[in-house]
Amino acid sequence: MNNSPLSVLPLLADGDFHSGERLGEALGVSRAAVWKHLQKLSDLGLTVESVRGKGYRLAGGLELLDALLIRQGLSEAAVVCVEALDVFEQLASTNVAAADYSLGSSSRGYVCLAEHQLRGRGRRGRQWVSPYGCNIYLSIAWQFEGAAQLEGLSLAVGAVIAQTLKQLGVAEVQLKWPNDILLNGKKLGGVLLEMSGDPSDICKVVVGVGLNVRMPENMHIDQPWVALSQQLPNVSRNHLASKLIDDLLEMLSDFSTKSFRAYRDCWQSFDAYKGCPVRVSSGQRILEGVAEGVSDNGALCLRVDGVIQQVHGGEVSLRPMYAS
Ligand code: BTN
Repeated sequence: MNNSPLSVLPLLADGDFHSGERLGEALGVSRAAVWKHLQKLSDLGLTVESVRGKGYRLAGGLELLDALLIRQGLSEAAVVCVEALDVFEQLASTNVAAADYSLGSSSRGYVCLAEHQLRGRGRRGRQWVSPYGCNIYLSIAWQFEGAAQLEGLSLAVGAVIAQTLKQLGVAEVQLKWPNDILLNGKKLGGVLLEMSGDPSDICKVVVGVGLNVRMPENMHIDQPWVALSQQLPNVSRNHLASKLIDDLLEMLSDFSTKSFRAYRDCWQSFDAYKGCPVRVSSGQRILEGVAEGVSDNGALCLRVDGVIQQVHGGEVSLRPMYAS
C-alpha cells in the first residue's frame, strides 16, 4: 500500500489515461484514496485531467529524474569525481541535503537532485520556486583547501552552465553578474553557493543550481522568468542533468589550480550588460556607471566618471538603468 500522493506520478508519467480503479489496484489503495492523491497533485503545480469513462492523465506526461540514467550519461572523468549521486522525490532544499552530506575525499563530490523542493533557497534570502517534476534543482558539494581559493567560483559556475546550455543549442543564453542565467532578458536559472567549515582550512562548498525547464505557466514568481522548453521543447531533464554535472565537476576539479582567470573570457562572452549603463545597489549604497565586464577575481568592473571601480559580490543587485 502506498499512501503518498507522489506515488501515483510514476503511473501517470506516460501521459496516457489510467482509470481510477487501475491506479488504485497498482498502489494497493481505494479509488477514493487515488482521487485524494490526485487532488493533492495540484498543490505541486501539476494538472491532472479527468475524463469520464477514460480516467485520469497528466497531459504531456512527465519525465521523472532517474539517478541511474543520469549516472550513465556522465563521462568517465566525471564518474570518478562522484562520491554519491542521489535523486530525491521531495525535500526542503538540495543545498541543505548537500551541506548535510559528509564528504570523505577532497577530489570527489556529492551530487543530489530533487523533483520538488519545499523550501528552495534563492540568492539574497529569496525563495526559489520549485514545483514538482518539471525543472532542475541540483546541488554539488565539493571540498576546497581554504576559502581564498574560491574567489570567482560562483561566476565560473555560471559560465560553465551558460556554456553547457549553448552546446545544447541555446544560442541566446546570457549571464547577468554575478551569476543569473538569462534567456531573452528573463531569468532562466540561478546559482547559489553556500560555504561551511573553516575558511582558513578545509571548507565545503555547496554549488546549487536551479534551472527552469518546463515551469508551469501559472507559477507565481516575483521576477520575469523563462523556461528552457521555449528553446528546446523536447529537452530531456536527465540528459541535461548529466551534461551539467559533467561540466560542473570538471570545473570544480580544476578550479583550485586554474582559478577564475581561466573562466573569465567564457563568462564575458555571455555578459548580458557589457557596455550598458547599470545601477548597482548594495544595502543603502548605490553606484551608477557603465558595466565593463569582470576582473580576474570575479568582481564587476564599473566605469564611473571615466574611472573603473570594482564591485565585489555579496548582497549586491544590478539593474539596467532603463529599468525601474
Ligand atoms: C538565485 O536566486 O538566483 C539562485 C537560485 C538557486 C536555486 C537552486 S535550486 C537547487 C539549489 N537548492 C536550493 O535550495 N537552491 C539552489
